[in-house]
Amino acid sequence: MPDLLIAIDGPAGAGKGTLARRLADHFHLNLLDTGLSYRAVAHRMLTYGLPLDNASAAETAARQLDLRAMDREVLSAHAIGEAASQVAVIPAVRRVLVDKQREFARTPPGAVLDGRDIGTVVCPDADVKLYLTASAEVRARRRLAEIEARGGTADFERILADIERRDARDMGRADSPLLPAPDAHLLDTSEMDIETAFQAAVTLVETSM
Ligand code: C5P
Repeated sequence: MPDLLIAIDGPAGAGKGTLARRLADHFHLNLLDTGLSYRAVAHRMLTYGLPLDNASAAETAARQLDLRAMDREVLSAHAIGEAASQVAVIPAVRRVLVDKQREFARTPPGAVLDGRDIGTVVCPDADVKLYLTASAEVRARRRLAEIEARGGTADFERILADIERRDARDMGRADSPLLPAPDAHLLDTSEMDIETAFQAAVTLVETSM
């Protein structure tokens, strides 16, 4: 059994990735962004021109995936996030990826996993479960600021509509919908900076150790 397992769930743009990285550094744990695994499957489907609802091709792509060899640079594109949420509704894809994610989580010295179903499905016995939220407007504003910081431009209303569509797909799917585990600690980051969220999370982890 790993020493410490931290599960972080929540919608796109709530700050899960940054919080997960900081907690993994602080507690010297392995880190897995499970969203990247769905993105990698979607990326392969797009690369080969396969329809995103081709369940058997998506399952094969999931089986071939090595969680330790995912390229964040390539997979972070906005369009891949949208495609990822489409392959993520396929139960066979989820089964294969969840098995791989559980194996990662079991590897010593323990891990921080972030995603949509970590506290509910992947690691229901995690030591600490955090559910990060923020209003869709705040998340869209953050996304716009990130794009602008990289020198790009984007339309706020379009980003907001994309976020709302992805939330609806992730929360509305039949298999492993996005929802807080009953024993998750809720952190609403709408009015909270990442440092405050990090300090709150460290306290929650320390009290559970
Ligand atoms: O978090 P990220 O934006 O990289 O996730 C991309 C998509 O992958 C999400 O919109 C969601 O549909 C899917 N996903 C999932 N379960 C996870 C992580 C991500 O269904 N544990």
